[in-house]
Amino acid sequence: MNPANVRMCVVLGAIMLAIGLTNGDKIGSLLYRRCKHEQDCLFEGGICNYTISQCTCLKNYLPSSNLKSCVQKIESLEVACTDKNQCLTLLANTTCDNRKCVCVPGYYFADKACWKMAGYAEACTKNQECSHIEGSICTDNMICGCAADTVLNTNGTKCLTAAKMLQDECIESVQCTFEFSTCVDKKCQCKEDFHYEREMTRCFLNKAIGDKCANNYECYQIEDYKNDPPIKSMTCDSNDSNTCMCADNYVLSTEGKCVSENAGSSLSRTIMVSLSILVCATVLTYILS
Ligand SMILES: *[C@@H]1O[C@H](CO)[C@@H](O)[C@H](O)[C@H]1NC(C)=O
Ligand SMILES: *[C@@H]1O[C@H](CO)[C@@H](O)[C@H](O)[C@H]1NC(C)=O
Ligand SMILES: *[C@@H]1O[C@H](CO)[C@@H](O)[C@H](O)[C@H]1NC(C)=O
Ligand SMILES: *[C@@H]1O[C@H](CO)[C@@H](O)[C@H](O)[C@H]1NC(C)=O
Repeated sequence: MNPANVRMCVVLGAIMLAIGLTNGDKIGSLLYRRCKHEQDCLFEGGICNYTISQCTCLKNYLPSSNLKSCVQKIESLEVACTDKNQCLTLLANTTCDNRKCVCVPGYYFADKACWKMAGYAEACTKNQECSHIEGSICTDNMICGCAADTVLNTNGTKCLTAAKMLQDECIESVQCTFEFSTCVDKKCQCKEDFHYEREMTRCFLNKAIGDKCANNYECYQIEDYKNDPPIKSMTCDSNDSNTCMCADNYVLSTEGKCVSENAGSSLSRTIMVSLSILVCATVLTYILS
């Protein structure tokens, strides 16, 4: 060999070595590196595939996530894992945490899969993305929301039945959906100083005689509501700058209550009748004795 050839040989050798090293480095791992013999693939689960002259994984093994070796396949998500690839081959969006296959953060397990968790009122594509909030669905607007006739509870964990009427059952006041209502003793009630008007299915502020009012429903005295249906002895008089007054056929009693006009006369009639009976009885007793 002449010196020129030697130099050429050294350069070529260096290039080939460099290529070899680069290849090895690119793989950075034992897996997929070139092999000629079984001994070239001496790592867990490794084998030399002579067809392609590369280290690969044995049957029942799969590449580890760092591609440094192979890990045994697991048959189910319940089996202990050491590498996330064991979980990922069984189910998308999983990882191995503390030797258990779990959904990746932000995902949760439902209907045998890991679903992206969409927050309440956030964009969704499937009901399962919302169902981590009990009773929540992916609505027509493609956002997570409570199903029809339910409302989100205060801590945002669950949809509760919406109550639309007085005395409907409740756990939280958000369920009492009619105006000025609240949950008291597990029943929807009007807030303090409000009363319920059945025909309007809502609560109105209590206004007394002489108070300014917005409508007839507001004018209220407790006595009227001892009847079922309640008497309407009061009215919001629009002729008198919207003030609560006694309604037609009702008069203001000395106690400041609206009472039936006839109530007084019927009372005197009763007294008259009683008196005449008493007089009659006395006379009869006198005659007969
Ligand atoms: C070797 O690799 C080829 C190509 O990827 C594949 O078809 C073949 O099944 C492998 N052989 C073994 C024994 O893994
Ligand atoms: C969850 O899995 C699906 C299906 O493999 C994939 O398209 C998606 O990118 C994954 N999301 C995350 C955050 O890994
Ligand atoms: C959230 O509120 C519900 C009642 O609607 C209750 O049962 C549950 O324990 C609460 N959860 C938290 C985390 O506070
Ligand atoms: C209001 O005034 C009109 C006409 O003056 C009368 O017909 C109506 O009965 C009055 N309404 C009340 C509630 O007093």
